[in-house]
Amino acid sequence: MRIYRVPDYSALSRKAADILAAQILMKPDCVLGLATGSTPVGTYRNLAEKYKSGDLDFSHVRSVNLDEYRGIAGDNANSYYYFMNENLFHHVNIHLSNTNIPDGTNPDTDGECIRYESVIRSLGGIDLQLLGLGHNGHIGFNEPADHFPVRTHCVDLADSTIEANKRFFASADEVPRQAYTMGIGTIMKARKVLLLVSGEGKADILRKSLCGPVTPAVPASVLQLHSDVIVIADEAAMAAME
Ligand code: GLP
Repeated sequence: MRIYRVPDYSALSRKAADILAAQILMKPDCVLGLATGSTPVGTYRNLAEKYKSGDLDFSHVRSVNLDEYRGIAGDNANSYYYFMNENLFHHVNIHLSNTNIPDGTNPDTDGECIRYESVIRSLGGIDLQLLGLGHNGHIGFNEPADHFPVRTHCVDLADSTIEANKRFFASADEVPRQAYTMGIGTIMKARKVLLLVSGEGKADILRKSLCGPVTPAVPASVLQLHSDVIVIADEAAMAAME
């Protein structure tokens, strides 16, 4: 595991964009696993700038997103589909037909999980998976549990996640109670993982994830078992590491 300690969020965003850009330059038709949440927003902004300056071409890139709320459609401003369009896809030359996100509106829950897993397989797996870190250690929407869910599945969101994510909604009542997420096994099969962590609110959970026991009670701790992980964390998030 390589850990980059950077001064602040803006340095984190630049470095993460550099690593994603390097992946695209090395393999123009790579499969990027993409994440939502506030942490990668600056990274996406930097990627859009690299595209605008002519340094990066997304025309052959394929993407799969980690997760999506269940029960809201893509045109809902809180859907991750909408988020990806607003924060990245509409600002670069990626073909929307090459982007994939779980379909939150599919009434066939099991069918959607199987479909999404087979989409990832048909692309040949994920070259680089970008991850944020939930306050409770979740990655994607893999919440703390007594086991590591292997494949894409539908989860009941933890109360703390609903609380953390309500800032994007009019009220906590409007946060969907369920979501589709890649499983821990899906994420662990990615050839490379890039974990971004920013802010003092993540310091404790970052230490537990990287230095504590590997346990499904802290889903991100499983990354200790992955052979190619890059962590970029700012000073505030690294505060509990010594
Ligand atoms: C959400 C997403 C995660 C994300 C996490 C952290 O619940 N499902 O993929 O990593 O929250 O979000 P933030 O970056 O806003 O702290």
